[in-house]
Formats: sequence, C-alpha cells, structure tokens
Amino acid sequence: MASSKETNTVTADSGAPVPLRPVQQFASAQATQAPTENFYEAVGGSETFRRLTEAFYEGVAQDPVIRPMYPEEDLGPAAERLQLFLEQYWGGPRTYSQERGHPRLRMRHAPYVIGAAERDAWLKHMRHAMDVVELSPEHDRIMWDYMVRAANFMVNSSELTMK
Ligand code: HEM
Repeated sequence: MASSKETNTVTADSGAPVPLRPVQQFASAQATQAPTENFYEAVGGSETFRRLTEAFYEGVAQDPVIRPMYPEEDLGPAAERLQLFLEQYWGGPRTYSQERGHPRLRMRHAPYVIGAAERDAWLKHMRHAMDVVELSPEHDRIMWDYMVRAANFMVNSSELTMK
C-alpha cells in the first residue's frame, strides 16, 4: 500500500525494489549536521564510487572467466558506466540516465551468458573493491546486500536450462 512513508523506491532493474528511505533514515540518524544526507553523500560521494569501480575493474582485468566477456579492450569506459550507475542508484547525480537512458540492466546483460561462475567472479571482485574503499560496517552491509541481490538478478543461464 503506497503511503507517504513509502516513496523513494528504486528498482533500477536490479531485483526487488530497494527502499531508499531506511538508508536515508540511517544516514540522518548518524548525522548531527546534515539530516538530509543520503547514502551517496554519507559514503563519500563520487570519489568513493570512483575508487570502488577502479578497484573492481583492476580485478576484472585479471579475471580469466569474465574478462573475455567485456567487448572493449579498454575497460575504462565500462568502469565509468558502472560508476555512474552506482552513483545514481545510491542517490547521487543522475548522469547515468542522462547519458545511457533507463538502466534496464537485465536487458543490457542479455547478450552475455551469466551463470553461477560469472556471478561469483563478479562478486569476488566487488567484495575486494568494497574492502578497498572501507565503508562503515553498516554502509558496507547495506551495499553488499544490494550487490549480491543485483548479481543474482543478472544471472541468465544455468546448467539446468542450458541446451
Ligand atoms: C553477475 C555478473 C555480471 C557480469 C558477468 C557482468 C558483465 C557485464 C558486461 C560484460 C558488461 C558490458 C560492458 C559495458 O559495456 O559496460 C556489463 C555492463 C554493465 N554492468 Fe554488468 N555484469 C554483472 C553484474 C552487474 C551488476 C550486479 C551490476 C549492477 C549492480 C552491473 C552493472 C553494469 C552496468 C551499469 C553496465 C553498463 C550498462 C550500459 O550502460 O551499457 N553488472 N556488465
């Protein structure tokens, strides 16, 4: 049931809607000066997401399972797309949608065969990248929960359904 307390949900094509409001409540409960600070700002803004995606793609660049899936030789543009998407998802600037349109992430991943091995490799590098940026335990938990759900949502192939 929609109510004024349940606005601000973001689906971003990444699984079940993720309510942003509890995150904002969390952030404002911690902050004394900035009660409207959102998750993006609370974790350090663009610089944090830049470092996160840089560390993530350093891992991808070395990965024998998923590196071959990335069409471009230079991973820089892919890193920028992921950075802009995550910034937007967590309440930052909406540059991703201005440049790329609606995320439709599951559809955008359809050309790639993503099974358990690919998902696990992706998550391994994301876990490492999150360890590099060192969010607070609570922000880490919230973001990691999202990454796991989003990665599972992107799986489009399994041994059971493959011909
Ligand atoms: C589960 C394993 C995953 C694999 C193997 C994978 C692989 C890929 C590949 C090969 C691309 C194309 C490179 C590019 O053009 O950017 C891509 C794009 C992208 N991926 Fe993933 N991905 C996975 C999960 C995720 C998740 C969980 C997210 C979000 C949290 C995500 C966000 C993106 C974004 C934003 C793009 C760029 C879309 C665009 O604007 O074209 N991916 N991914």
